[in-house]
Amino acid sequence: MVSAYRGEIDQIVERIPEQRELEDAVNEPDRVVPAIEFRNVHLAFDEKRILDGISFTVRRGETKVILGRSGGGKSTIIRLVLGLLKPDAGQIFIDGEEITAYDEQDMMDVRQKIGMVFQEGALFDSLSVYDNVAYRLNEQSVEEDEIEHEVRRMLQFVDLEDAIDKMPIELSGGMRRRVGIARALIGDPQIVLFDEPTAGLDPPTARTICELAIKLRDLQDVSSIFVTHEMNNVGYLSSEYAVVDEGGHVMFEKEGQTLCLINTEVIMLRDGKIIFSGSDETLHSSPDPYIQRFIHGK
Ligand SMILES: Nc1ncnc2c1ncn2[C@@H]1O[C@H](COP(=O)(O)OP(=O)(O)O)[C@@H](O)[C@H]1O
Ligand SMILES: [Mg+2]
Repeated sequence: MVSAYRGEIDQIVERIPEQRELEDAVNEPDRVVPAIEFRNVHLAFDEKRILDGISFTVRRGETKVILGRSGGGKSTIIRLVLGLLKPDAGQIFIDGEEITAYDEQDMMDVRQKIGMVFQEGALFDSLSVYDNVAYRLNEQSVEEDEIEHEVRRMLQFVDLEDAIDKMPIELSGGMRRRVGIARALIGDPQIVLFDEPTAGLDPPTARTICELAIKLRDLQDVSSIFVTHEMNNVGYLSSEYAVVDEGGHVMFEKEGQTLCLINTEVIMLRDGKIIFSGSDETLHSSPDPYIQRFIHGK
């Protein structure tokens, strides 16, 4: 019955090709509207200009790496996205919705869409891994069965199911960061903000953190801001992509020369302005001496 009905609809649709175009037009804006947009944002603290006319977009499913020296305003950008700070001028949009003038109450709904990964993992030391990851759901009085299901799903994503009953003190630095990521992913946010998630980690551990960000980007269509000053992070995020093989395992592959599948772009801040915006490859070939010094760690 249902399929016969479906056939009838298909016939009608075939007779009216405009219908298809209409459907496409309806679906399209959803992908075209950026997940995050800054338009000419200015912010000063005590006369000191921190952001001096910043404009950028994070497309859906894109990871935007923000590079810049310490004190350059990177965390400030993240706090503006979360509405914890307000710009002096300019506009900020989340999913096409202007949040610039939103108050705390309005921001509550917006923050539901956003997961936040802090520099040090920012775990509660007195709570177990389980309770750290469950934190947001406990606050929302979600049923215990569902909480447990979600916590296990998130810990599985970061490959730490075995640590569920451990206390943060028992974990290595890299594991703590991964728990921090699992906690940020509760509620399946479509936007995830990473503030120096690999600071102080050795390169192989930093790479596993980057691979989690890659998995979110390529397998979950998550949009991210990834703040870092570590060039190896940019290398991982810009050269690897995640796929699921036939057995359901996640694999990381290197981008071939001719493919352009990787949805990561880089911006670099200097003195409150964006001095570079583009791919990792273009960044490396930039003739700008400041950029060259930065990428070579000088
Ligand atoms: N609430 C504030 N009041 C005054 N100055 C601030 C405040 N927040 C940040 N700053 C200053 O703004 C600058 C940028 O900070 P931040 O965004 O944290 O830099 P980054 O994350 O790039 O290291 C720093 O010089 C910092 O001291
Ligand atoms: Mg910072």
